[in-house]
Amino acid sequence: MSKVLVVSGHPRTGDDSVANKTILEELASLLPGVEIDHLDELYPDYVFDVEAEQNKLAAADVIVLQYPLWWYGWPALLQKWMEEVFVRGFSHGSTGTALRGKKLVVSVTTGASEAYYAPDSVDFNNLLTPVKATCALTGMEFAGSLPLFGVSYANRTDEAARADMVERSRLHAQRLAEFVSSL
Ligand SMILES: Cc1cc2nc3c(=O)[nH]c(=O)nc-3n(C[C@H](O)[C@H](O)[C@H](O)COP(=O)(O)O)c2cc1C
Repeated sequence: MSKVLVVSGHPRTGDDSVANKTILEELASLLPGVEIDHLDELYPDYVFDVEAEQNKLAAADVIVLQYPLWWYGWPALLQKWMEEVFVRGFSHGSTGTALRGKKLVVSVTTGASEAYYAPDSVDFNNLLTPVKATCALTGMEFAGSLPLFGVSYANRTDEAARADMVERSRLHAQRLAEFVSSL
């Protein structure tokens, strides 16, 4: 059984998340032995324990980046984590081999619809270029992306729409758990 690490990049899962919070809760019950790296809970001041984070990554076979799409990328919390944890000598460079051979999965939630991210529009696949390039540099295998489109921020004030977001987030977590288990 592969060791799965889910790195959660949402900065406010406690009080300002519906989709990511639901997905993380579901994954915890669906994937036995999964380690969930709640960056917002562990590092509310954005000051990371770099060694601890590197150890978690080194111990994992499959790494899932779970985050909401914010300004067409990941939130600053996840960006800062990556800048400080993925350093030369660990993740890349002639002696930086710790991530080699690990599988990376992107699970991202978006406010905009699937149609908005169609290939002839704002092509969703283009947004994955940085993560694919990171995999190439670090020797990780990009195993795939699972987007959950259209979980809109505005819908939080509408109870029916919120319930729909929760339900679709649960289904997304089930698909993600199946995908990760198949790797
Ligand atoms: C600061 C900010 C930036 C956002 N940028 C985007 C964006 O670029 N594209 C998009 O589709 N949704 C965008 N959204 C919507 C979020 O992706 C959406 O609210 C989130 O995926 C829902 O997950 P959550 O309930 O866990 O917060 C943005 C939301 C915020 C707060």
